Amino acid sequence: MKITMIGAGYVGLVSGVCFSDFGHEVICVEKDRNKLAQLQAGEVPIYEPGLKSLMTRNIAEGRLTFSDDLETAMDGSDAVFIAVGTPSRRGDGFADLTYVYDTAREIGQKLKTPTVVVTKSTVPVGTNREVQRIIAACNPATEFAVASNPEFLREGSAIEDFMRPNRVVVGVEDPQAETVLRQIYRPLSLRETPLLVTGLETAEIIKYAANAFLATKITFINEIADLCEKTGGDVQQVAKGIGLDARIGGKFLHAGPGYGGSCFPKDTQALVQTGQQHGAPQRIVETVVAVNAARKSAMTEKIIAACGGDVAGKRIAVLGVTFKPNTDDMRDAPSLVILPELMAAGAEITATDPEAGAEAVQLLPGVDWAKDAYAAAEGADALVIITEWNTFRGLDLPRIAGLLKSPVFIDLRNIYPVDEVQDAGLIHTGIGKGGAG
Ligand code: UDX
Repeated sequence: MKITMIGAGYVGLVSGVCFSDFGHEVICVEKDRNKLAQLQAGEVPIYEPGLKSLMTRNIAEGRLTFSDDLETAMDGSDAVFIAVGTPSRRGDGFADLTYVYDTAREIGQKLKTPTVVVTKSTVPVGTNREVQRIIAACNPATEFAVASNPEFLREGSAIEDFMRPNRVVVGVEDPQAETVLRQIYRPLSLRETPLLVTGLETAEIIKYAANAFLATKITFINEIADLCEKTGGDVQQVAKGIGLDARIGGKFLHAGPGYGGSCFPKDTQALVQTGQQHGAPQRIVETVVAVNAARKSAMTEKIIAACGGDVAGKRIAVLGVTFKPNTDDMRDAPSLVILPELMAAGAEITATDPEAGAEAVQLLPGVDWAKDAYAAAEGADALVIITEWNTFRGLDLPRIAGLLKSPVFIDLRNIYPVDEVQDAGLIHTGIGKGGAG
């Protein structure tokens, strides 16, 4: 199959590289000149484990190229994927569909051979019908069909998620287009990956419902953690106790500082807006959004309380600022709320993170950066783990205790057993650890 992938952002690049690894011929079309130059030079603009080697191999084998020429790329393509961004619109939280509709218009203007236009970007229900209308209005002559193919990959394990998905969802109503999509995903049939074919609207809703459900699961366990803290329960055991029920499942029940990232915050807000717009309010998701937003500031309060109620003039070591491990992504990271609030309360922050780079430095002005956890801890009045990077999972706790000025250890991801922390001479504060801190 010949595939054009429009947009070499997270989803577009990972999907394009993986499709080429399936054996398809893929051209990724990217308008951003800097990014295009990087990609053409074989560099990966994002941090994603395994992506670089896969990309290098498929470029070398001639199946993967990068271009800014959409017209030539689309010529003879069996499928044209739209994988451009759909950020939250400022002010109202609606998904901003400008890039999707602009791309549809461009496809309509430049399409010369019959193809299937597949939306991979996360788009609210109704968008694919509009894409269909826009292309038809620009280009009544060329045959095309529209399909929706939402992506469920997680940052940090994107390659694995793409290559071994739980399911592939395809919203498609044209039988020939369905055949093309089945052909594209045929390599996954060896693993017996379920391919669910639905209508356009259903596929669009599946994507939002999946993300909103997962965000709800996290928010639910976070509130249960609060209850554990007040009553003497242990949220990790509660999560295990409910998660062993196969109807609930144990995944996405890790209590923490609230969800962040490029998807959950944006998609839950967009679903709320879509529900309101269509007279079908999504009240559970509305509450999830509000509870998650409040949680980040609640973490600041927790840290201040662990520091004896006042952080003025105190130095706090912070381990991990990205929204989760194995990514350099700072979007909606809890650290972006917690650190400025601590500084506003008079604290000095020394942070460290294995991947957060220039963007983090720019987003967190006033923060000092240390090369590792021990350098950050030296002389600090407290240590806080915000992101559970592997490198923070095996700390030499007695050494940390020796470096800190006062032994305050706050673990917002519950990565350390309470007794291990206490045995090292540290005062432990975790999440939902009612009996212990
Ligand atoms: C998510 C979805 O998992 C993925 O299917 C979708 O395509 C995009 O959004 P991602 O944002 O990369 O992926 O990360 P994920 O691992 O799902 O974590 C999202 C957030 O939830 C992070 O802030 C993480 O720390 C938090 N989280 C996750 C918890 O707090 N507890 C959990 O148990 C799981």
